[in-house]
Amino acid sequence: MDIEKKVWEVLCSEEDIKTRLKELGKQLSEDYKNRNLYIISLLKGSFIFTADLVRELTVPVKINFITTSSYGHDVESSGYVEILEDITEDLTGYDVLVVDDITDSALTMDSVVKHLEKKRPASIKSCVLLDKPERRKVEFAPDYVGFTIPDKFVVGYGLNFGDYYRNIPYVFVVTDQER
Ligand code: PRP
Repeated sequence: MDIEKKVWEVLCSEEDIKTRLKELGKQLSEDYKNRNLYIISLLKGSFIFTADLVRELTVPVKINFITTSSYGHDVESSGYVEILEDITEDLTGYDVLVVDDITDSALTMDSVVKHLEKKRPASIKSCVLLDKPERRKVEFAPDYVGFTIPDKFVVGYGLNFGDYYRNIPYVFVVTDQER
């Protein structure tokens, strides 16, 4: 599909995202006050969300990255989650918050949380910009959600189409209509 020729329907505008991130940042700053917050962000999709979210926090935070891959370049999930690059650190004493752009089948979040639990953090929670609960393959409810969205293929703000369009500053759906 040549998405340049299709009409893009904005699902979460720049303004929607900015407003919601301020709310999430405020809530996280309250919840993680006097804790030892360690954000672990799942690359590549979450790099923009994480960068914007952490700048809304008013509490001290350590930030690290894990690279995961589940989709390759396909629209459908392969059902297999690979940790391409892990963190080597022991997480004892840290309140870990796993941050991702989207939870779809939840295979990624579920396997990453189970994997990080073995590193013995004081606590572990999850935060996603977009949640697509209709698509679950495993039971998982993210602790913090930016937007709950319908089962549509979404692109932009970190989310890719054929590994492009991550830099589009809003989240959009590609329609059937030609531009
Ligand atoms: C996407 C997205 C999430 C995951 C969510 O990553 O960034 O990490 O899929 O899907 P799930 O809930 O069905 O597991 P992808 O593997 O496409 O890689 P990317 O982060 O490089 O975009």
